[in-house]
Amino acid sequence: MRCLVAYLSYSGNTEEIAQWIEAHLKHIGAKVDMHEIGIDLPIQDISQYDYIFLGTFTWDMGSTPDEMKDFVLEIGYKPKNIAVFGSGDTQFGGDALFCKAVDKLVTFYNSKWDGLKIEQSPRGHQEKHIKNWLERVLADVKAA
Ligand SMILES: Cc1cc2nc3c(=O)[nH]c(=O)nc-3n(C[C@H](O)[C@H](O)[C@H](O)COP(=O)(O)O)c2cc1C
Repeated sequence: MRCLVAYLSYSGNTEEIAQWIEAHLKHIGAKVDMHEIGIDLPIQDISQYDYIFLGTFTWDMGSTPDEMKDFVLEIGYKPKNIAVFGSGDTQFGGDALFCKAVDKLVTFYNSKWDGLKIEQSPRGHQEKHIKNWLERVLADVKAA
């Protein structure tokens, strides 16, 4: 199984989730490419991946960051195998705006899975949310 973990992170929280996902996928024997959006060179062929894990933070009253919008354009089509994760903070607008960019990407890609939403850093008690979410995604992968 070949996976892409593509993420956008300014202050490191979404990156931590991405690294957690990477470690777990490698642990179960998947081949994983990491891609830091806005930093790494464009991906040559996105269709080579069995699964794409797409991570973003949320910005500016529930907005999707511009770099993430550019990446969506760079992908250029709607792969069916995208699972979305992200980091946010309920101090910026409560539950209504919490990780809203995750919801928007889930809807845009018509993702099979609910988005994973983490409050700030995943370190500590939220790690189990990543684990449970990843297990749900991977259960579908095995069943496919
Ligand atoms: C100006 C500003 C606006 C923000 N707006 C939101 C928001 O609308 N919803 C949300 O869930 N988090 C919001 N956040 C919180 C970030 O999404 C959160 O800190 C996230 O963990 C940052 O991810 P990163 O460390 O990967 O960059 C905002 C943060 C800043 C600085």
